[in-house]
Amino acid sequence: MIPFNKPYLTGKEFQYLYEAVNSGKISGNGIFTRKCHCFFEERYGFKKALLTTSGTDALEMAAILIDIKPGDEVIMPSFTFVSTANAFVLRGARLIFADSEEKTPNLDVQKIEDLITPNTKAIVPVHYAGVACDMGPLLELANRYQLFVIEDAAQSIDSYYQDRPLGSIGHLAAFSFHETKNVISGEGGMLTINDERFCQRAEIIWEKGTNRAQFSRGEVDKYNWVDIGSSFLPADITAAFLYAQLENLEDIQQKRKKNWEHYHEGLKPLEEKGVLRLPYIPGFATNNAHMFYIILRSGEERDQLLKFLNENGINAVFHYLSLHKSPFYHDKHDGRELSRCDFYSDCLIRLPFYYELSSEQIDFIINKVNEFFSSHHPLSTCESENS
Ligand SMILES: Cc1ncc(COP(=O)(O)O)c(C=O)c1O
Repeated sequence: MIPFNKPYLTGKEFQYLYEAVNSGKISGNGIFTRKCHCFFEERYGFKKALLTTSGTDALEMAAILIDIKPGDEVIMPSFTFVSTANAFVLRGARLIFADSEEKTPNLDVQKIEDLITPNTKAIVPVHYAGVACDMGPLLELANRYQLFVIEDAAQSIDSYYQDRPLGSIGHLAAFSFHETKNVISGEGGMLTINDERFCQRAEIIWEKGTNRAQFSRGEVDKYNWVDIGSSFLPADITAAFLYAQLENLEDIQQKRKKNWEHYHEGLKPLEEKGVLRLPYIPGFATNNAHMFYIILRSGEERDQLLKFLNENGINAVFHYLSLHKSPFYHDKHDGRELSRCDFYSDCLIRLPFYYELSSEQIDFIINKVNEFFSSHHPLSTCESENS
């Protein structure tokens, strides 16, 4: 079986884990945590970076930082991971789901203004597959209506909107280092803070609502309970693992981009025939090769291809189910139809994608996708994507 994902080890992980353990301090905010923070702040210009135990935790910190309260409305795509939504619902927010755009699963920025009300507090753009949302017009709207922008950059390490790194554009942003991401630490994440106003409070929330980080730096003579918070910081062991990955970021990105291009070249003829769609990268966005997905013409055909690939030893998978139709939220949703989101839920397939995927394996997968379309009887006309 070709797995969907295989965590890649760069080789230095065990050495750094050993060093972290040997340092005598393996809890949070240790040497490797600080090395990771410096790496991110220097390379991408984030005002402040704080490692968290997951991308989910980073989103929860963001919701606390912007003081989400019952009755506040938060605009986000319905085509996203549950954590994007849960973080705000946990604090009492009402979610206003935006539909995806035609060419990518990202939220359609042109449609957001109609969703803004006096209760709107924030917009949460999710950069799907590490490809930027159209942040220019989104920021213009946010400024005009004085809304917070929280980027869900879980999949967006080393990706850009024009010349701005993703995660450096919104007031706050959340990254994930879950084992399926480009750089990993098993579970793990990071909150980035780009608005000075939030820097000090973020550190307090990160450390259980105490000013312990200031105490460690000798800025206060005792540490105290000063705000709400939780245990959002990871052990330095997690940071040590992550740092080994970060040192090899260039190599990881180069290999993943090579794999991505290989899929793209190999499947282009099928796109030209009109039987499937390949990922679209808008002119303002870069491609960080986080995932490779294809879009089929109907849900039925998507399910048939998934079955065919799985029967042939290829663990291809679908992705998000529309959150506005989820068992938890459908009766809280305002009832608007979000047909593009449903289309991506029904028709998208993620192909196996990881550093160590070989050229031969990619060719095998491309051949199997071709075989499916030559041996099955594909629909004669392209169904509308809104069907
Ligand atoms: C878009 C998005 N947001 C948030 C998360 C949550 O990240 P984590 O799994 O690190 O909690 C993920 C994880 O896959 C994600 O894809």
